[in-house]
Amino acid sequence: MPRPELEKKTVLTLGQKKARGEKIAAVTAYDFPTSRLASEAGIDLILVGDSLGMVLQGRANTLKVTMDEMVYHTSMVARAEPLSLVVSDLPYGSFHGSVEKSVENACRCIKEGGAEAVKLEGGGKRFRVIEALLDAEVPVLAHLGLTPQSVHALGGFKVQGKLREKAREIYQDALDLEKLGVFAIVLESIPQELGRKSSAALRIPTIGIGAGCGCDGQILVFQDLVGFTSLYLPKFVRQYADTRSLWLGALQRYVGDVQGGSFPSDSESYHLNLDIEEFFK
Ligand code: KIV
Repeated sequence: MPRPELEKKTVLTLGQKKARGEKIAAVTAYDFPTSRLASEAGIDLILVGDSLGMVLQGRANTLKVTMDEMVYHTSMVARAEPLSLVVSDLPYGSFHGSVEKSVENACRCIKEGGAEAVKLEGGGKRFRVIEALLDAEVPVLAHLGLTPQSVHALGGFKVQGKLREKAREIYQDALDLEKLGVFAIVLESIPQELGRKSSAALRIPTIGIGAGCGCDGQILVFQDLVGFTSLYLPKFVRQYADTRSLWLGALQRYVGDVQGGSFPSDSESYHLNLDIEEFFK
């Protein structure tokens, strides 16, 4: 009898989970060890998010992340051969020009990076590109609500859909994206009522981040979840550990041991088993 937790997850798995009423657990990963860990933990979907621009590169937003960087990080994640579905984020500027160039960029994530799908931010304005990607056999994860690549247009990282008109737009975009053929939709920073209503209206799964428990799944940034960040944390983040203190404590003890001369010890060193003066004669 095959054990579902040991099977490779695909875009189909997520839809099947929703149909069975099972929740989807997703997380970001930007490298090989985190990818291994996420897979081992039973994560359904790993997103190589452009949030790496803030989390790893220390930038104020995600706008400067390049295609080359996304391909590089995706390839590390894919090399771990996780059972989780690997999705690569299309960075700002990589899908805003010609449709041909957007398809070329998405194909780089698949061919060079080893991703199994791409994510891109935005609703109606992006439908033409999404159609072309689907036509090129690239599975698409959509992203509505707070779309961080629109930070300047939105006037900051602000909750979206609190006003009726915007809420209706997000809801309608979600319905239209399902019709286009995306396999799932990330809903970020919207009122939980809107998250629940959108999820109930769709057959494809929604994956929420700050969109309440009515979504079909949840995603968090790995470093936020394990408490390894000194960045500001939005209220929707639940920290499951404080690993920053662990790393810091380990480093401080190391500094102390090096300065005090107790590291490395004899057993942590290689030996000639001969007196060095004799050896040199
Ligand atoms: O870039 C990212 O990590 C994301 C998720 C937080 C949804 O878009």
